[in-house]
Amino acid sequence: MPYLMGLDISTTSAKALILDETGAVIAVAGSPQPISQPQPLWSEQDPADWWAGMAASIRQALAQAGLSGADIAAIGLTGQMHGLVLLDAAGEVLRPAILWNDQRTSAQCDEMTARVGGERLLALTGNPALTGFTAPKLLWVRAHEPALYARTRQILLPKDYIRYQLTGAYATDLAGASGTSLLNVARRAWSSEVLNALEIPPEWLPPVHEGTAVTAGISAAGAASTGLKIGTPVVGGGGDQAAGAVGMGCVQPSTIGVTLGTSGVVFAPLRRYAYEAEGRLHAFCHALPDTWHFMGVMLSAAGSLQWYKDSFAADISFESLLEEAADAPPGSEGLFFLPYLTGERSPHPDPLARGAFIGLTTRHQRAHMTRAVLEGVAFGLKDSFTLIKQAGLPAAYEARISGGGAKSPVWQQILADVLAAPLVNINTTEGGAFGAAILAAVAAGAYADVPSACAAMIQTGATVAVSADAERYAERYPVYRALYPALKDIYPRL
Ligand code: XUL
Repeated sequence: MPYLMGLDISTTSAKALILDETGAVIAVAGSPQPISQPQPLWSEQDPADWWAGMAASIRQALAQAGLSGADIAAIGLTGQMHGLVLLDAAGEVLRPAILWNDQRTSAQCDEMTARVGGERLLALTGNPALTGFTAPKLLWVRAHEPALYARTRQILLPKDYIRYQLTGAYATDLAGASGTSLLNVARRAWSSEVLNALEIPPEWLPPVHEGTAVTAGISAAGAASTGLKIGTPVVGGGGDQAAGAVGMGCVQPSTIGVTLGTSGVVFAPLRRYAYEAEGRLHAFCHALPDTWHFMGVMLSAAGSLQWYKDSFAADISFESLLEEAADAPPGSEGLFFLPYLTGERSPHPDPLARGAFIGLTTRHQRAHMTRAVLEGVAFGLKDSFTLIKQAGLPAAYEARISGGGAKSPVWQQILADVLAAPLVNINTTEGGAFGAAILAAVAAGAYADVPSACAAMIQTGATVAVSADAERYAERYPVYRALYPALKDIYPRL
């Protein structure tokens, strides 16, 4: 039986996953990744750490499964999107990678809007200029580190740096490329108009491929570092959200995905390219051919709970903390949490937005505060869900849930109630790596296309029904909606 490998270079871990062609997880290994925040608003990682971690995880996964590299039919790649890796003419890394959650590029976003024109940029790339995306990071390096910029010959996304180490080839996928602000998303090709306007040399960009297309084979050096076999095909793969959506079976418009990861995402596949008139949702290529998607991204979802627990409840387990929250009343007795701990993207693209507890009284205990965090994240996801509904969902759709935060039954229930939508669980918790391995399964010929691979490899589980609390949340949501506008002029003064 051929095995498939999915590799995910996320912000927190370099993960290698092995599946058989039925979708059964045979092995999974992860290597934690350090992150550095050398200045306010900055977020960086060293690509050398990614590669060392990934090579170790691949070896470990093969050993765990008792397989050799020759047993792997194809490899799919995924990872954190938008990050900028700069290479010189010799393929050496020029500086630490600037990550998706780095917020230093406001001035460069203004510059992009001025050079391309706001409406034109939105129509071409599906998105306004956003601080987290790749192009403004490159303009930041041009403005602030001109000597490094002058030595640049190639730019890559994080997962494509892993591909380069594995195969020696420069290549990327369309879903990941959509997050650069340099792709003509409708045409599924780099945008010469945007590149010209920004004066970015097109030869610095890698060729773009569909998620299931073979980009290159494992090189001798890649094989020596990992135990993989020379020539094993590596497919395009996808950015973490698109690959994660494949892993949830969200590959046609009737299945939408809600992910409670570090970031929080509502993901809706589209048959045709469209963009939200005000650019409040991302419009990207999906990881399968002839398919696009809308996506709302909040920057701190499960990341908010992690911060809260680390800062204020380090001594108790997540389970106990969440059990406590389950006993607090829905609406947390008028306490609201704004989850903008690292600024926000959807629907408020604002790098200076900050988190807040609003409505504290002496009646509020830790249980209320924890519950308010869970509810605030759910309200933030409702903002994106509402925009997606307004942009047009099929009359009948299924919402599936995944991500680390989805392990909590209380959070799942709050989310179903806030969204007023039943949420369907799936059998895998492996996220993007699982989806990347599904893309590899199609390339290996195990399935004719991505939808049939998903139908065979993913099983759905329990559905969380909407409870009577939904009514209470429907009343509270307009209050949440009023908070960001009320605070937005304060943030720059903080
Ligand atoms: C998607 C996004 C995040 C990162 C990190 O637009 O920014 O999902 O890819 O996970």
